Amino acid sequence: MFRAMIRKVPGAYRIARILGLVPRRADSRSFLLDMLPPKSVGVEIGVHKGDFSKSMLDVVRPKELHLIDPWKHEASTTYKDAWYGGQANGQAEMDERYRHVCARFEREIRRGQVTVHRACSAAALGGFPDEYFDWVYIDGNHLYEYVKADLELALAKTRPGGFIAGDDYTDGGWWQGGVKKAVDEFAAAQAVQLVAIRNDQFVFRKGPVA
Ligand SMILES: C[S@@+](CC[C@H](N)C(=O)[O-])C[C@H]1O[C@@H](n2cnc3c(N)ncnc32)[C@H](O)[C@@H]1O
Repeated sequence: MFRAMIRKVPGAYRIARILGLVPRRADSRSFLLDMLPPKSVGVEIGVHKGDFSKSMLDVVRPKELHLIDPWKHEASTTYKDAWYGGQANGQAEMDERYRHVCARFEREIRRGQVTVHRACSAAALGGFPDEYFDWVYIDGNHLYEYVKADLELALAKTRPGGFIAGDDYTDGGWWQGGVKKAVDEFAAAQAVQLVAIRNDQFVFRKGPVA
């Protein structure tokens, strides 16, 4: 509630984090990483600079981690407050972020643990066989239609008993609550078990759970 309120005031969320009034991102998501099984096959949709990917590798120690992001700059006003829109210095910065992620995980890429897919989620995730993943983490385009599509695709690509989770389950934001709306509809319509909504994260298990 407090988090949703301060998100509406520009700059307030960052100040609240510095003052310790809301948990740091890494801490706020650690409960989720603790749920994911070691030696699993997982995917992160929306990678940015790879900070959460690094936590996934360190905590979960997956057998395979697929990182999906087009690193494409969005110039339209819809995205003026997005990290990959008005908050980035054009396509050059997106290209730099992609290079940074490839360099950051060079060792893991070389040994076949990490694969970077520079593509949008529909194309990249859609190319995997059904039920391929033990877990899918959704943090890509936060607009309603994209989250809805990511959730539906994630359901097909996750094995029964696997996890479908994601970030920014909040009201407001530049995405105008699109994540929350899509997630609430998904919870009502699909054969999934809601495991947690906590620290802006949502976590489902695909049924039937073993
Ligand atoms: C919020 S950031 C991801 C943050 C990252 N998960 C983390 O926690 O460090 C959102 C990312 O989604 C990416 N993105 C935008 N549209 C996408 C799409 N259609 N498919 C996959 N990723 C997308 C953006 O390029 C951006 O890097």
